[in-house]
Amino acid sequence: MLHDESPDAVEARERNFILGTYARTSFHPRSGKGARLTDADGNEYWDLLGGIAVNVLGHQHPRLVKTLRGESKSLFHVSNLFYHPAQGILGERLVRASGLLRAFFCNSGTEANEAALKFARLANPGRSGLVALEESFHGRTFGALSLTGHAAYRTPFEPLVPGVTFVAPNDIAALEAAVTDKTNAIVLEPVMGEGGIIPLTHEYLAAARRIADRTGSILIFDEIQCGLGRTGTLFAFQQSGVVPDIITLAKPLGGGLPLGAVLTGEAIEGVVKPGHHGTTFGGNPIACRLGCAVLDEIEQSALLARVNEIGEWFGGELQKLRTRMPSIVEVRGRGMMWGIELDRPAKEIATALMAKGFVVGTARDNVIRLLPPYITPKKAFVDFVAVLEEVLVEDSGPPLSRQPGAAVLHTQIAQGAISK
Ligand SMILES: Cc1ncc(COP(=O)(O)O)c(C=O)c1O
Repeated sequence: MLHDESPDAVEARERNFILGTYARTSFHPRSGKGARLTDADGNEYWDLLGGIAVNVLGHQHPRLVKTLRGESKSLFHVSNLFYHPAQGILGERLVRASGLLRAFFCNSGTEANEAALKFARLANPGRSGLVALEESFHGRTFGALSLTGHAAYRTPFEPLVPGVTFVAPNDIAALEAAVTDKTNAIVLEPVMGEGGIIPLTHEYLAAARRIADRTGSILIFDEIQCGLGRTGTLFAFQQSGVVPDIITLAKPLGGGLPLGAVLTGEAIEGVVKPGHHGTTFGGNPIACRLGCAVLDEIEQSALLARVNEIGEWFGGELQKLRTRMPSIVEVRGRGMMWGIELDRPAKEIATALMAKGFVVGTARDNVIRLLPPYITPKKAFVDFVAVLEEVLVEDSGPPLSRQPGAAVLHTQIAQGAISK
């Protein structure tokens, strides 16, 4: 069986036949249960990355397994020329839970953002300006990439979609200045993921709503990484009370299968007509049924309360660790979404954590990023804090030049205390 191939053989085949888009870590997870992963050599790990925010119920969750088994007896694909019940059922649940009005299904986060840009253009014809945030991440296709505020991702592919202005996160004055009556849409992640886990303040989101209303721009919240329970409410925007015109979702939505969604509000009503947009695979019946199972489990096992409770306690433990460890510059996040900004490269620390049984992610050069499953037991976090301390004590790597943490830096820039 292909599953039994040795790690070396797997890597050799990829080197020969797979396009080198990923700088993969030499880690070969082969099985998992709950928040545990087992690699090809039988080593076990706590999975604190959850497939980059996908596996919110961990691995082999009984509800997902049961749903998948049930669905395997049904149609694997139904063309979007025709009807199947699962899209409407999942769409209704997302619409009712968010307070928006309609759902469109696609296959990924980047596709959700592409669709959102097209819907915003239809709602605001003739206005092509877009405002997004420095260090944001919205995907890799031309539209989504054009909105991504990380130059290294964009530069090799320029020229991109024109008319995008980037502003610093949480800087209300900069947003005021950038958005005009030519702006089509403002695109924000309520908690920025790839940018290093930077929560946007409630005041900032409220200001964005005000500015969008004043200029007639569409307000789009990309909740692909921070949505669907990650920060303790089903949608991150619900903590601010600021309702956007469009929300984009993906990652955990399909229970591990590819599924993205765009939720649209009043501003988009009536503007999207048949033929304007579509996809062959979007809203696949199995993925939508798994999406319903994810929502059922979040609801019936009171996972939001758990995310809040563990998040609050864990955040406190990380802050305490920061006071003991000078190599931790800043700790940011909420719920099950945490960034630990270091004064040194995060990759080496992530490698050392893996050697001690923890799978974590990184963001930017110096942030350890945690996006664990919502079912992760408290013990995993207790052990993680102890092991991170151990690893940081052992690490003698040269610190990066000492700078304020990203969130502090943005606040200082916004307040005019320092310039960029
Ligand atoms: C906030 C955000 N938007 C968009 C995307 C792109 O999603 P996908 O990789 O599913 O295309 C990501 C992926 O990391 C993301 O974190």
